Amino acid sequence: MTTAGAARDGEAAAGDAAERDREAAAAGDAAERDGEAAGAAERDREAARSGDAPAVDARSRALEVELDGVTKRFERGEGAALRGISLGVAKGELVVVVGPSGCGKSTTLRIVAGLEEADAGAVRIGGKSMAGVAPQDRDVAMVFQGYALYPTMTVRENMEFPLKMRKVDPVERRKRSNEAAELLSLGRLMDRLPSELSGGERQRVAMGRAIVRRPRVFLFDEPLSNLDAALRQELRVEIGVLVRELGVTAIYVTHDQVEAMTLADRICIMNKGEIQQVAPPRTIYEAPATSFVATFIGAPKMNLLAGTVADGAIACGPFTLAAPAGRRLPERVVVGVRPEDVRLVGAGDQGATKLEVALAEPLGAETNFVLRAGDVELRARASGFDPRDKGAAVHVSLAGAKLHFFDAAGAGARLP
Ligand SMILES: Nc1ncnc2c1ncn2[C@@H]1O[C@H](COP(=O)(O)OP(=O)(O)O)[C@@H](O)[C@H]1O
Ligand SMILES: [Mg+2]
Repeated sequence: MTTAGAARDGEAAAGDAAERDREAAAAGDAAERDGEAAGAAERDREAARSGDAPAVDARSRALEVELDGVTKRFERGEGAALRGISLGVAKGELVVVVGPSGCGKSTTLRIVAGLEEADAGAVRIGGKSMAGVAPQDRDVAMVFQGYALYPTMTVRENMEFPLKMRKVDPVERRKRSNEAAELLSLGRLMDRLPSELSGGERQRVAMGRAIVRRPRVFLFDEPLSNLDAALRQELRVEIGVLVRELGVTAIYVTHDQVEAMTLADRICIMNKGEIQQVAPPRTIYEAPATSFVATFIGAPKMNLLAGTVADGAIACGPFTLAAPAGRRLPERVVVGVRPEDVRLVGAGDQGATKLEVALAEPLGAETNFVLRAGDVELRARASGFDPRDKGAAVHVSLAGAKLHFFDAAGAGARLP
């Protein structure tokens, strides 16, 4: 269809655009096309908020979103995409789900949205089972990596479209799109077409389109990963402020640990279809539950060294460390040390162990080193510009450093 044709046909063009959209956005809007269903959802939500909702148990009422032992296997997938995951998100909470590519983040989100069906386990939103509940009746809005805007509609039309489909009257539509524009600093762009916007502006409009619906739960799937670093940082801050200002419950999926650390009330770390840890960012950093979590969060990564415990000492690469008092460690452990806890010391200092600089990365505020002794590598961090370069001898002490201990076998669980 030509641009002119599209413009002439208004709604029809929107239908085409929806088909072209990533299926997710389409699912959201397809849902909205069904005015009746959406109306029902709206009524339900009002009922729930005014307390006339069907009785639910007190525990689940406090949780806005619950996944309970959810498993998912795709017909063509290798193994299970989700292996019995359980996660509760409290009302008004922002949980960031983070993990490497393919670990099951999007699948988790899509199951909450109803775009994908779990093989087993339960999903509850607002304490109600979502079994058999269509996406449009779930009162969630999803924001994606792709912007999925209708190309022939202005910013304002794009933002008001979900409301129009829900037969919200024009005065209310205008009021809500103005509010969203204000929140997202889109005021001066309201009459532009998506093609006349930058990537960051388009992503803001996509968020605006989710906001105007006033959903119970926001679902973000890597909304910033198409943007350049500077813009990502700017929008990340904005999203955090926005979600908190709106007081809305949100699940935010990313593979970026900085987004996770800065945005989350709690971080949920996934690997290979399983949840490894759910905790506030600081706990994740200071007390990672597994060696996977330990190395996934933190840059440069935490060092993990194989250690052998005997007679109150731990032999660990070139180091001999005092075993922590009052703890019973197994004979074989994995010792974790964050780069900032590796102390660069003088040759004569207590516990000084000699290593060689294999790589020096001066970043300005800090210099990151990869040090080597035999086949053991150790990442270390010094502040500012450090003059030592490749080949230089350095002395390191782990005496008194904060050490983490993990099981050398199995899933690498943190040792008590
Ligand atoms: N429609 C599908 N068909 C087959 N396999 C899929 C499908 N969607 C996802 N998967 C597989 O499920 C796993 C989890 O995928 P996904 O949830 O998209 O991961 P993430 O979002 O964390 O990168 C991956 O191994 C992926 O290849
Ligand atoms: Mg994904």
